[in-house]
Amino acid sequence: MGKMKAIDYKIPKASLSENKSFVDRLAVSGDLTDEELLSVLLYSNPVFNDYILEKARVVRERNYGKAVYIRGLIEFTNYCKNDCRYCGIRCSNKNASRYRLSDEEILSCCDVGYELGFRTFVLQGGEDPCFTDERIVPVISAIKKNHPDCAITLSIGERNKDSYKKMYDAGADRYLLRHETADKNHYELLHPKGMSFEHRMQCLQDLRDIGYQVGCGMMVGSPGQKPEYLIKDLRFLQAFKPEMVGIGPFIPHRDTEYKDYAAGTAEMTVRLLSIIRLLLPETLLPATTALGTVDPLGREKGLLAGANVVMPNLSPSNVRGKYLLYDNKICTGEEAAECINCMSRRVQSIGYEVVKDRGDHIKFKGI
Ligand code: SAM
Ligand code: FES
Repeated sequence: MGKMKAIDYKIPKASLSENKSFVDRLAVSGDLTDEELLSVLLYSNPVFNDYILEKARVVRERNYGKAVYIRGLIEFTNYCKNDCRYCGIRCSNKNASRYRLSDEEILSCCDVGYELGFRTFVLQGGEDPCFTDERIVPVISAIKKNHPDCAITLSIGERNKDSYKKMYDAGADRYLLRHETADKNHYELLHPKGMSFEHRMQCLQDLRDIGYQVGCGMMVGSPGQKPEYLIKDLRFLQAFKPEMVGIGPFIPHRDTEYKDYAAGTAEMTVRLLSIIRLLLPETLLPATTALGTVDPLGREKGLLAGANVVMPNLSPSNVRGKYLLYDNKICTGEEAAECINCMSRRVQSIGYEVVKDRGDHIKFKGI
């Protein structure tokens, strides 16, 4: 079966000069009507493409200069109790080769990362029932004890508030939990019964109330996504004001029911990065691995469109090829040192600079 048709995003809604004036207003006031926002999202024209990039870059450089923050990503388990329809490590994928790192292996990844200059470690994994609070809290405490000058970001899905609080008290600073889509019906299409939109949103609020720097975000071009859902996503981001926003193209995985769907495009992802930078000038915005997977220069394009974070992989090389959320994922073969060297070269090639810093959100600096 051939690839299903991607959403046609290229429907101009207003003229070039009107769209430029919308961007000017967005850059000054941080707001537009839904219709104007939709037009800016969908309008495609080489002159306009450069225009919006430039505006977003100016805002990014005003807040963060030429700095690109690096986060050492440790994918410590691919066991997951959830069955998200789009995800290659969903529990019903019997072809996934499962692994989980020992506590010692996680700590050793951090030691290697520290030597390479990382000052933020991102612990990401499926919702692995093995990582109870009793198991994860001592790991967080040990990382903080070994590297007190580093930030710890968690990305381990939905838990209860008490659990989030225990991990925060142990030293976790930030939490990434993509909202995935701000449209409830779309959320229910992408997830099985038993996962709820309301609970996802409640988790984000709990994380915020506890004091984490919170990250949310969505896939671009996910099955069933409509442009108006992206507007809802942008409105949600505008209202919630997350300290971090993770977006990347949806990419099909061969063992999921969405295997024949088209991937989201780099162009739309880059456009959204620029709009998010203009809506949330201070947010920490990664140029993701998924963006680098759909376009070999995707991460550079993302950085030039307003992103200011990259997340090189620190997972041991023998497990990298197993954390496969989607097909053809890049950076699954390299050692950690190769990954950071490659990333630093890419960042320098576009006139930016990798900085060895915790890279907190402006409002959390010095806390
Ligand atoms: N379990 C944690 C959670 O749910 O937040 C973290 C791991 S989860 C795999 C991280 C993110 O990967 C998800 O939030 C989702 O947006 C993204 N992801 C999963 N499958 C994907 C796919 N096929 N294409 C692109 N991104 C995908
Ligand atoms: Fe759990 Fe993807 S379904 S990480």
